[in-house]
Amino acid sequence: MSSSTKPVVKFRKNYKPSPYLIKNTELIFQLFEDHVLVSASLNIESNPKSAESVNLPPMELDGVALELLEISIDDKELSDSDYQLKQDLLIIQPTTAQFNLQTLCKIYPQKNTSLEGLYTSGGKFCTQCEAEGFRKITYYLDRPEIMSAFSVRIEGDQQKYPLLLSNGNPASRGDLTDGRHFVEWHDPFPKPCYLFALVAGDLDCLEDEFTTMNGRKVKLELFVDKGKLDQCQFAMDSLKASMRWDEEKFGREYDLDLYMVVAVSDFNMGAMENKGLNIFNTKYVLANEKTATDADFEGVERVIAHEYFHNWTGNRVTCRDWFQLSLKEGLTVFRDQKFSEDMQSKPVQRIDQVKIIRSAQFAEDSGPMAHPIRPDSYIEMNNFYTVTVYNKGAEVINMMHTLLGEAGFRKGMDLYFERHDGQAVTCEDFVRAMEEANDVDWTQFRNWYSQAGTPLVNVKLTQLGAGQFHLDCEQSCPPTPEQQSKSPFMIPIKTGFLDAAGNSLKFKVEQGDWTDEALLILTENKQSFKIECDAEQIIPSLLRDFSAPIKLAYEYSLTQLATQFASDPNSFNRWDAGQNLMSRLLLSNSPTLSATDKEIVEQAFSAILHDEQLDNALKALAVQLPSLNSLIGQSDKVDLDQLFNKSNQLKQHLAKSLEPVWFSIYNTLAGDNAGARWLRNVALSYLLIASEAQYFELAANQITHATNMTDELAALQVIAKSKNGFESEYVEQFYQKWQNEDLVLDKWFSAQVLNEQDNVIDYIRSSLLEHEKFSIGNPNKVHSVISTFSANNLVQFHHASGAGYALLADLVIQLNQINPQIAGRLATQFNQWKKLDSNRQTLIKSQLSKIISIDALSNDVFEVVDKSLK
Ligand code: ARG
Ligand code: ZN
Repeated sequence: MSSSTKPVVKFRKNYKPSPYLIKNTELIFQLFEDHVLVSASLNIESNPKSAESVNLPPMELDGVALELLEISIDDKELSDSDYQLKQDLLIIQPTTAQFNLQTLCKIYPQKNTSLEGLYTSGGKFCTQCEAEGFRKITYYLDRPEIMSAFSVRIEGDQQKYPLLLSNGNPASRGDLTDGRHFVEWHDPFPKPCYLFALVAGDLDCLEDEFTTMNGRKVKLELFVDKGKLDQCQFAMDSLKASMRWDEEKFGREYDLDLYMVVAVSDFNMGAMENKGLNIFNTKYVLANEKTATDADFEGVERVIAHEYFHNWTGNRVTCRDWFQLSLKEGLTVFRDQKFSEDMQSKPVQRIDQVKIIRSAQFAEDSGPMAHPIRPDSYIEMNNFYTVTVYNKGAEVINMMHTLLGEAGFRKGMDLYFERHDGQAVTCEDFVRAMEEANDVDWTQFRNWYSQAGTPLVNVKLTQLGAGQFHLDCEQSCPPTPEQQSKSPFMIPIKTGFLDAAGNSLKFKVEQGDWTDEALLILTENKQSFKIECDAEQIIPSLLRDFSAPIKLAYEYSLTQLATQFASDPNSFNRWDAGQNLMSRLLLSNSPTLSATDKEIVEQAFSAILHDEQLDNALKALAVQLPSLNSLIGQSDKVDLDQLFNKSNQLKQHLAKSLEPVWFSIYNTLAGDNAGARWLRNVALSYLLIASEAQYFELAANQITHATNMTDELAALQVIAKSKNGFESEYVEQFYQKWQNEDLVLDKWFSAQVLNEQDNVIDYIRSSLLEHEKFSIGNPNKVHSVISTFSANNLVQFHHASGAGYALLADLVIQLNQINPQIAGRLATQFNQWKKLDSNRQTLIKSQLSKIISIDALSNDVFEVVDKSLK
């Protein structure tokens, strides 16, 4: 570590209320071509809730990379001895319990490549303040519990920046001298500074209106780069659908007269819920049939909804401190998931959600960065915007929903809003509202907030007598870096039983009523449930709909799994049985697959593909192998070469043995809806596996004549993956056609990095990273090339030469200074290394050691790599 400050670990247990509050915040931004002047006037009061021993302790304001030009208190300029400037802090000594602090700072947004604070993207100014970016704008108490009423004045060149936007409602506007103008904004809702936003530029706008449940009219404005208006309608429709849904499902109405969304190309994450002025990655706004795939449309709908839902879960009720992040993120992801389930197919959505948990979240939980959904410590908060906090956090809320039922959950939400509207609160406050509204005791349930790691539940079924069974469950949770031993979790296991032919059976649990589905609630380390069921042989259908974020082990026979795959009435478990079946074969110790193994899967697939009741999207999901990531994510140790080998064998076998079926699907299915397009494109990819020579024409034809991006991209993907992918004229034509459509180019980059031939790494280095359209400063580009390669081309990323690891490490090092947040994120791609063979472990370890020894290592990268090396 050679950066100027030693990384400091912050602990949840050390939380103390701020000794000062900021009641009002007035900001003036003067925008210039190579800098910005920010003047701040803060009405400060000592905090009655703070238990400081001294009456008026020194006040420490956060500030990073600010040039302080002026400072005064109550209009009296301070002399040098009245304040101290330390690394990232301004310290003053208040003499009264209420005062006004004024500062003037100079900042350089045009040079800000971290994309945090105020920066520029494509000629416009924009901001990203969550988590701790506001301190790069002005000196402030940059913590979420400080809620302040903001008034903002922006001044800038009239021609370059006709639009000057901030949160709330516009209050006044006018002209200044030198071709400049100003706009003033006032936000009536006190808010933490992480929700502050500013945008200045020249943009096109799609306008609309929404009438709330109480008849109030809200103006909706969606701002995009000039010329992109034809890619906005879907996002606008999604916004209106989300607003309606939140009224209908949760009784939540929008509260301002104006809701603005701005799309920018350079953005670290998906989007940001700034009050009244969301800022989005263009990826989650721009979409029409020509440029966006069916999956992209779903992404837009989901993220638009997510940010909108934050207005209540995040903005009206916010987090007391950043350890509580899951309070808003887990809950808001849960809400966007329920919304998507209502808008799209419910089982398909559920399967997508679970795939993320099993690949990325299980991996995180079993790696060096494992943390509870409410972390106990962090060095760099940006490293904790994780699948654990977000997606496992949503699973924890989902368990509450399952335990309480729809009505009970709603009661809890209502009480939560009633108690905490306008406050900055904790996860504990949320759990308590749920508990008290429903009169339940969730002492044990809280372990989901405090313990990291993925619980494993082993289940055994024993027959006692005719129609009498015992279901024995045993839970355990492996140690994680900061927690050696775990207490048992409360685990809801939604369960049914099938007979040997796959029919649903009626059964009784303990003294309960006859039913065909029950929620078993596991609370002990070992627990046994008495089951009564009038059948000779029963197949348990466990953890339906993935009712808890756990691994469940039950010794099914392969035939039982095939039966479940063919006919479990629970669509999710039906899919899951197929995944389970294939995982068992792929992860077994045997170096190859037997002929019988391959046939079992083949027959199961064939049955699924011929099932006339099943919809196409579910078929498409069912006939895809479990991803290598989820297989690795679920294992403690993995023999990669054997795994790659067997999964290729299985794909080859399925491609060849079912060739006529794939061919007939491809030729007869009309690709006129998303599910059909999906299945048809899965068939295409199997056909090219069966014989590239024979079926290449299909792909070539498809890419030439496609009328939508879903089909065009699917064809590009198989072509770019093929033997001559790097020289293909079709890949070149795609580029020519789309070279001015940035988001489509991202897909073009990604398609190429998935080629599994040995020269792919050279090709990435010499052609893609050097390409005129590639930009290291643009996170979408870095993701399309580097993250896609290391997360999805595992065969080459893990190449025994170590070339894939070297590529990733080089990019981490290059980005360390440019954009530490993205660099930190990339570095997590090494986190599974301890599961691998010793040769690969050595190779990765040497890359990690190389990274940790560079100069000026950012906190972001340090935290990830240091933990990985421990
Ligand atoms: N709150 C945003 C969202 O989930 C994400 C902001 C992430 N910011 C960050 N610095 N990691 O919608
Ligand atoms: Zn969010």
